[in-house]
Amino acid sequence: SEDELHRRIIAAKSALGERVRILGHFYQRDEIVQHADFVGDSFMLAQAAKAHPEAEAFVFCGVHFMAETADILSGPDQAVILPNLAAGCSMADMATIDQVEDCWRELVEVLGDEPDASGRQPVIPVTYMNSSAAIKAFCGRNGGIVCTSSNARTVLEWAFERGQRVVFFPDQHLGRNTAKAMGIEEDRMPLWRSHLPRGGNSEADLRESRVILWNGFCSVHKRFTVGQIERARAQFPGVRVIVHPECPAAVVEAADGSGSTEYIRKEIEAAKPGDVIAVGTEINLVNRLQEQHPELTVFCLDPVVCPCSTMYRIHPAYLAWTLESLVAGDAPNRIVVDGSVAEDSRVALERMLAARP
Ligand code: 13P
Ligand code: SF4
Repeated sequence: SEDELHRRIIAAKSALGERVRILGHFYQRDEIVQHADFVGDSFMLAQAAKAHPEAEAFVFCGVHFMAETADILSGPDQAVILPNLAAGCSMADMATIDQVEDCWRELVEVLGDEPDASGRQPVIPVTYMNSSAAIKAFCGRNGGIVCTSSNARTVLEWAFERGQRVVFFPDQHLGRNTAKAMGIEEDRMPLWRSHLPRGGNSEADLRESRVILWNGFCSVHKRFTVGQIERARAQFPGVRVIVHPECPAAVVEAADGSGSTEYIRKEIEAAKPGDVIAVGTEINLVNRLQEQHPELTVFCLDPVVCPCSTMYRIHPAYLAWTLESLVAGDAPNRIVVDGSVAEDSRVALERMLAARP
């Protein structure tokens, strides 16, 4: 039963003490979040993995790419464990390393690889954190960088200091929203479709481009619509609408603010009693924020409950099992990134950590 799992998790955790740290993403269900030593957005979780050299192991309650990142940034003797190996991210799966390398070859064919008079490369690869370690490593090897939704603009500015344009993997929406906020025109952001030569773009399109967008998206965030925002505004005059930048551009434009899950949490923290806030992001976070703030009205823009199904795969039974295995001296479900993939992806991640203002 739920109660029994709860008791087992507490018992195993206290037997392990500070040797094991539980990290949890904001989208995790409450039954997991309540046991986490640290809860955050994906940027904060990457920092946390770097900041606890005393821990022997991290139990990462989140999705696969986040656990990979934790392994890359943590020490060589620290184990990173993903309680359920089936917790992936469908957006991250929308770009494979082979597709990315094919895209790069075609871009170099069209744009060349010689820097311009001011030393800027023809194109800098930027990958959203929501991608495989292999793609982060590709970026590290090719003068590129990683970003999260909390620093995408800073990272794009970093990239434009070094390149004439950017190719952005895999979330078209975060790429487009960030570039638009920087004043880049939409007709200079061609979409790359990996099944077509040159993504289906003309050579002129690619030469004139500023940001080449990969054709990926988050199936949770693409459900949000401008119609939902209009209905919320009609029903609650004065409502504040905040959304995650993985939402389509029209939704971000119709909202009052957009940002990472930590930005959303801070916005709720800063609200005044009686405020009404409609949120465009995953339901576990929205419901938790409402529970923590009974003095506010906080609701999800999408009336059909929309959990991230893969985040949800971290069930308390898996957490109990992993912690008990650690007590018994086993470390199951380890996520290990090694060799040149670890080395090169660390370069791209460290560039991101250093680029933060
Ligand atoms: P954050 O970086 O905002 O936590 O987002 C991660 C994510 O997967 C959102 O869907
Ligand atoms: Fe991936 Fe979307 Fe889930 Fe975030 S919410 S982990 S982007 S599927």
